[in-house]
Amino acid sequence: MTGPEQHGAPKRIVLLASGSGSTLQALLDAAADPAYGVVIAAVGSDRPTAGAIDRARAAGVPTFVAPVGSDRDAWDVGLADRVDSYAPDLVVSAGFMRLAGPAFLARFAGRFLNSHPALLPSFPGMHGVRDALEYGVRLAGCTLFVVDGGVDTGPVIAQVGVPVLDDDDESTLHERIKDAERAMLVDTVGRMLREGYRVTGRKVTVP
Ligand code: GRF
Repeated sequence: MTGPEQHGAPKRIVLLASGSGSTLQALLDAAADPAYGVVIAAVGSDRPTAGAIDRARAAGVPTFVAPVGSDRDAWDVGLADRVDSYAPDLVVSAGFMRLAGPAFLARFAGRFLNSHPALLPSFPGMHGVRDALEYGVRLAGCTLFVVDGGVDTGPVIAQVGVPVLDDDDESTLHERIKDAERAMLVDTVGRMLREGYRVTGRKVTVP
């Protein structure tokens, strides 16, 4: 499977986030420079009060909110339709704390990326930073991957190691990891969109 290739026009991404949006902010800042060659077409969240929504509005980027209701399948299809309406080349989860369902995954197969604050396949799931710290690793980090049907199991695109310091708690370690995540996202997503990428089985090639 091959991703977006260069055709002149800037490539479009939709960002999904549930939290403060500090990682998403790095992409908003990068895209403010036309030389980056990427348009943030929209920012979506499951939470109307997410800081990510405020950050997108401040940057003049369209926003939408898709709260999860009782019908999970309908939410999944509705989210896919909403994202699709912005015609993205890539969809990037930057702290989106919901698992997309089968309809969304089918619609954006190979084009939906997630950033996780651990070195996968170690410490998947909601508490990757806490789990790594409790295990006692000396090297934590972050992983950008192509989302598949599992929990943080998709093909790995990029990883960055981050040292664990003796006096770290979950918060200090997570902040250090998020610094690395921001740089990883800006660099890797930009290259993927400007130059294309290839997913062959579990191997992802970015020029
Ligand atoms: C990031 O570490 C992301 O990988 C994780 O949640 C964090 C998002 O933080 N899933 P923020 O809301 O962007 O500050």
